[in-house]
Amino acid sequence: MNMALSPANEINETEFFRRDVIAGLSKKQKTLPCKYLYDEEGSRIFEQICELTDYYLTRTEAGIFHDHLPHMVQLIGPDSVIIEPGAGNCEKVEPLLEALEEPRAYIPMDISPEILLAARTRIRSQLPDLEVDAHVGDFTAPEAWQGVVTEKVAGRRVIFFPGSTIGNFDPDAARQLLAGFAAHLAAGDGILIGTDLVKDSVVLERAYNDSKHVTENFNKNLLARVNRELGGDFDLDAFAHRSFYHALRQRVEMHLVSLKAQQVHIAGERFEFTEGETIHTENSHKYTLEGFAEMLGGAGFTLVRQWSDRGGLYAIHYAEIR
Ligand code: AVI
Repeated sequence: MNMALSPANEINETEFFRRDVIAGLSKKQKTLPCKYLYDEEGSRIFEQICELTDYYLTRTEAGIFHDHLPHMVQLIGPDSVIIEPGAGNCEKVEPLLEALEEPRAYIPMDISPEILLAARTRIRSQLPDLEVDAHVGDFTAPEAWQGVVTEKVAGRRVIFFPGSTIGNFDPDAARQLLAGFAAHLAAGDGILIGTDLVKDSVVLERAYNDSKHVTENFNKNLLARVNRELGGDFDLDAFAHRSFYHALRQRVEMHLVSLKAQQVHIAGERFEFTEGETIHTENSHKYTLEGFAEMLGGAGFTLVRQWSDRGGLYAIHYAEIR
């Protein structure tokens, strides 16, 4: 397995977390970067979210893949190399890998070596002829891409980026990320990417305020993580989960609301909260089909095809470098 992160970098993870937490909570609108939602506990809770009836995204995306896989396979063609940034347990890509015509290699990238190792073992046992070249690293960091894209391959390289992960990047950062992906590709290569679509706010708000309170646990785990890793003293009962759709910005915002005036101590620093003050923990951007085609175009891709479900909830886009 390729290790873009050295052990020294891993030790520094807590220090990066501390700096980001102190910086985020020192802002006028307090904020915590959403990437920190995904420690081991957060990733476990996120898997529960994906199973919820209220959270339609995961099953709707799986349905679109299921219904349109033959067309996707035809567009990608034979001898392809599939690259998956932030692959996690690599489960979503499996039907595609199984359906593709003689894929040459699968390159999953993730920050967790344990998860990648388990996924590589599973995929190798299911598809013994496929080369699986796992890369440990943060796909948003250029160094994580070292060695991912090397010499020209016979078929297309296709970046597989499902799950509406792009929605958690603000539009400018999303365009930059996609342009960065494009920079790793050559003419004829492509991207297969999933996005949640703009829709009725009732449906959106239900998805992010589920009746089983799993999203609330997911959000509050961020405070628990600060307590666990940085010795913070957040009282989880003194904060409430709040998610709402901001129609103008086309995004669901997730916040933690302070239920009273209070002080929180973290790593030798003190933070004051007024009653009702929030920590902004995540944005989940929603797109129209036209809006996302435009974003892909701005990042250097040419849209080839978009697929959606009957209800128009979600979309998968295939675009190429021309
Ligand atoms: C990972 N990401 C696409 C999820 C989303 O829908 O934005 C994260 C999430 N946050 C709350 N529920 C799910």
